[in-house]
Amino acid sequence: CGIVGYIGYREAYPIIIKGLHRLEYRGYDSAGVALNDDEHGLQVFKKAGKVSDLEDHVNGAEYLKSTSGIGHTRWATHGEPSDRNSHPHLSGNGKLSIIHNGIIENYASIKETLLAKGHVFKSDTDTEVLIHFIEDIQRNTGKSLQEAVRLALNRVVGAYAIVIANADQPDELIAARKGSPMVIGVGEGEYFIASDATPIVEYTQNVIYLNDNEIAYIKRDDLLVKNIDNTIQEPYIQELELKLEMLEKGGYDHFMMKEIYEQPRSIRDCMRGRIYPQKGLVQLGGIKDYADKLKNIDRIIIVACGTSWHAGLVGEYLIEEYARVPVEVEYASEFRYRNPIITDKDLVIAISQSGETADTMAAIELAKERGATIFGICNVVGASIPRLTHAGVYTHAGPEIGVASTKAFTAQVTILTLIAFYVAQQRGTITEAKLVEYLTELDSIPALVEQTLKANEQIKIIAERFKDSANCLFLGRGSSFPVALEGALKLKEISYIHAEGYPAAEMKHGPIALIDADMPVVFIATQNSSYEKVISNIQEVKARGGHVIAIVSEGDTTVKDMAEYVVEIPQTAEAFVPLLATIPLQLLAYHIAVMRGCNVDQPRNLAKSVTVE
Ligand code: G6P
Repeated sequence: CGIVGYIGYREAYPIIIKGLHRLEYRGYDSAGVALNDDEHGLQVFKKAGKVSDLEDHVNGAEYLKSTSGIGHTRWATHGEPSDRNSHPHLSGNGKLSIIHNGIIENYASIKETLLAKGHVFKSDTDTEVLIHFIEDIQRNTGKSLQEAVRLALNRVVGAYAIVIANADQPDELIAARKGSPMVIGVGEGEYFIASDATPIVEYTQNVIYLNDNEIAYIKRDDLLVKNIDNTIQEPYIQELELKLEMLEKGGYDHFMMKEIYEQPRSIRDCMRGRIYPQKGLVQLGGIKDYADKLKNIDRIIIVACGTSWHAGLVGEYLIEEYARVPVEVEYASEFRYRNPIITDKDLVIAISQSGETADTMAAIELAKERGATIFGICNVVGASIPRLTHAGVYTHAGPEIGVASTKAFTAQVTILTLIAFYVAQQRGTITEAKLVEYLTELDSIPALVEQTLKANEQIKIIAERFKDSANCLFLGRGSSFPVALEGALKLKEISYIHAEGYPAAEMKHGPIALIDADMPVVFIATQNSSYEKVISNIQEVKARGGHVIAIVSEGDTTVKDMAEYVVEIPQTAEAFVPLLATIPLQLLAYHIAVMRGCNVDQPRNLAKSVTVE
């Protein structure tokens, strides 16, 4: 879900709508605004569908002159997306309006009490219950709205980022957060509020990230932040690293393509200042305080969801290979609901592009309670997960707008490579000479990615050939197995072709039954330790009439003779193959999706960051 709020001297409506468009990449199914001024009071417009549907619905109403307002995009959790369930929601007396991200877990019991008191609800949402609850407290206690909000939030269980507009006080907005992000942009005589910095960046570079359990009282020229216990907090104003051009397509048809092509740069940014090839040295400032601790850990547990989980699987190979520490990779959503065995000698690494994924956050909290040390690998600076972890390493890939993750994945893999070497360095499982060799090679990866991207035209031809397939199989071994998983995920996410990733050797235990003359099978068949084995697997597919597309090392002739299509990637050390082999798979998914007329940047039903469980 997305939140935008404005209070200042400009017309609020265009700022809010533009902000909601900027948040579109996060995925949503309905949108709404509430505008507030002395003359018209509180005016609410909301609509199921896209932000443009909301714009059509509002269609130039005169109250759009208000200089204060709030807007929201919703991604349905309970109940279908509908006008009725869209935010903003109103209190019973129509004086208060609220937008909300997150979940109020104890809403049912609050609702019951309010129903008994005669409250009437228009939607099925927990959000509407919260605003009625606030109004009820205000009425019963005779206290100010500010105080009523605080009292209500003290009684609420769950996660929220909320903004409230009050018809009786159009010169103030109240914002609060717990477990769901909220950024306040600081202008001159104006403030911007949003769930991430993207709606704010074109107006100001000065922002405050609200902390959990803080409430902000925002007037045009005054900001007061208190915590939920009513003590005043000194807000910390920081400068955004985000630039406006990072949020635009820069000449590409889609953000996804732009982000695929950004990878030479994003991988370079990931390594900048962190590797010293001649010295054979890796320095990770974000985790350096834990260097000694790393000598004595028994195990590393990686928790993540989706694409980040795939990056974790690549990390497992690298860390076990070089640092010789046992690694387990867990879906955050599974890990948190088991009764996992965790000790203070475990290191948990949470990987999350957005830094907001609810399941990953919950897994971190559980591991923390049980005494583990927690590192984060996140892309969004200042997000919730980096605040929750003990230490971490940012990926610095820049904002990723396409819902299907591309540059964030290769950045995560790069960071995991650095962590593998860093841990190896601390534990003495790698020699300096070897590190010199590996880091020199790693340093050349951005250039090799650039070279890999040249396969684009050739991949278009392959996409044209297979765009109408109903299924597709991706196979790889070793660290190319997670690459196969990621290739399959990209294709299914954006083209809606059913795709599966499998370890190549496991194919004969099931997927082989699917192979027929209509089935494309993508192999990652680079010249590494399992090359010969993969070649046997290719033969098995061919023998059953499947179409083989192979990603091979430059100069390979053996596979070329067997496969229908080959895509060459530059030669590199086995450890770095995932960084290159992923690129053609991203391009393949992209072109197939475009050819099938799919909405590449905003695939159906998916959200960029899943802040619900
Ligand atoms: C969603 C996104 C995926 C992403 C996953 C985990 O499903 O669509 O692209 O991999 O969440 O997100 P995170 O931000 O934690 O990496």
